[in-house]
Amino acid sequence: MQVNQKSIPHFRRLIPLWQKMGLPLRPREPVPSVLARLLSGRPAKLLMLGVTPDYAGFGDDLTALDWSPEMVAEIWPGDTDKRRAVLGDWRDMPFEAESFDAAIGDNAMTMLAWPDDVDAVLAEVRRVVKPDGIAVFRWFLAPDSPATDTELKALALSLRDKASDIMRWRFVMDAVHEAGEPTVPVRAAWRKYSRLFPDFGELARANDWDAAELAELDIYRESTAQFTFPTLAQMQAAAGRHFSSIELVPSGDYPLAEFAPFVILGR
Ligand SMILES: C[S@@+](CC[C@H](N)C(=O)[O-])C[C@H]1O[C@@H](n2cnc3c(N)ncnc32)[C@H](O)[C@@H]1O
Repeated sequence: MQVNQKSIPHFRRLIPLWQKMGLPLRPREPVPSVLARLLSGRPAKLLMLGVTPDYAGFGDDLTALDWSPEMVAEIWPGDTDKRRAVLGDWRDMPFEAESFDAAIGDNAMTMLAWPDDVDAVLAEVRRVVKPDGIAVFRWFLAPDSPATDTELKALALSLRDKASDIMRWRFVMDAVHEAGEPTVPVRAAWRKYSRLFPDFGELARANDWDAAELAELDIYRESTAQFTFPTLAQMQAAAGRHFSSIELVPSGDYPLAEFAPFVILGR
């Protein structure tokens, strides 16, 4: 399967929203603090998948790898002598073997088509991280069974003063069950919440969402992006092809955190 190039216009549309974006999609506190604890004690030549600004201060030396010049220009806080963004593909990294003490990534695996691209990236991470190093990814995993419509509706109507991202992301994660595979088009989520809420007015009233917030729900209608959410067992099988140690640590207490553990991989 081809890597998810279709996500590129999707991210372009999200760039103006990045500053206000919060958890669960952007790793605000407490997520960076939990990650810092997981990495502590390691000599810190770090590789980051993506240009996550919230992690830009990590490590003694940080290399952020992303294939999008626009994301580097708009999201990355800029290079210094301790950090730099490099343009390139996670599936074919422009680095020598064993160049890094650790690799990190926030919600990066979701961007990759299942199973080939996830496999290719895990193989590359194993290659470029030193044998005693680790990789720590906040990785969204689908629950083993679908949510009921009642559960999804209850979540969607409980988001007063919270962002519609939470609802969008929960619905797209749920779509893996209908699709029967981990990689799903975000449009499937839009179809489902449009069916459950034919008039977004109910959401606006329950959550006090303004027109801008409701407009974000329509990003998924026009998007051709696909995202990937393996179940725990599927993730363990994929990671287990490259790493012998797979550990899960909760990433915090925030909406949807139960689906987004830190997955720590080691040889
Ligand atoms: C790390 S992810 C998720 C966003 C994350 N939660 C954050 O706040 O940074 C998004 C990034 O992945 C990049 N990306 C997706 N697939 C890629 C690939 N195969 N190689 C390099 N970059 C990729 C996109 O360009 C985008 O900048």
